[in-house]
Amino acid sequence: MKKQVNDVLERLRVFGIENSVPNITDENAEFLTNLVRTNWYKNILEIGTANWYSTICFADSLTDLGWHITSIEFSILSHNQAIDNIKKAGVENYCKLIHGQALDIIPTLEDGAYDFIFIDGMKRRSIDFLQLCWPKLVQGWIVVIDDVIKFRHKMVGLYEYVEDNKLNYEVKQIDEDDGIMIIKKPLI
Ligand SMILES: C[S@@+](CC[C@H](N)C(=O)[O-])C[C@H]1O[C@@H](n2cnc3c(N)ncnc32)[C@H](O)[C@@H]1O
Repeated sequence: MKKQVNDVLERLRVFGIENSVPNITDENAEFLTNLVRTNWYKNILEIGTANWYSTICFADSLTDLGWHITSIEFSILSHNQAIDNIKKAGVENYCKLIHGQALDIIPTLEDGAYDFIFIDGMKRRSIDFLQLCWPKLVQGWIVVIDDVIKFRHKMVGLYEYVEDNKLNYEVKQIDEDDGIMIIKKPLI
């Protein structure tokens, strides 16, 4: 299965570069994949599937561990591409792709069910995604928000929100011009 996943991943990586798909960067893919691998996350939620490149990166490290990924995307074109890609990668049994507006779908998901939540949707709604996702996260585990340096100006209210609510967060520079915010949910 690994080879099948890697083949799809490489094809998507090249397609993304040639067609300007806003996939995560190579450095970010490496960082997040290591994070997933070392922490043994088992139940991932992703907001913003696009063509599924980022999720297949996670899939690469999780297929041996009984993992599961739920990913939400509102573009029907991207959602259909993602379905096609997970079939080609042979990981459809481990994934649930949901087509729709994440702001409506997140509240319908089970509370306390996800140990890693990756937010990579519309930047100006990042704070809304965070607030909606928070009850869905297992205590002691993390939310990661992408592009928080380059698009900080679009993420209105996000930095103020994490500061005002004294959330345990860290902004990590991942590549030359951008980085992620890692927010850890307290145990109690
Ligand atoms: C930056 S791309 C995601 C890239 C992907 N995570 C990757 O690295 O391969 C953002 C995606 O989120 C989707 N999106 C943005 N806002 C959304 C929302 N409110 N609900 C569902 N999907 C959304 C967009 O259609 C787009 O495909």
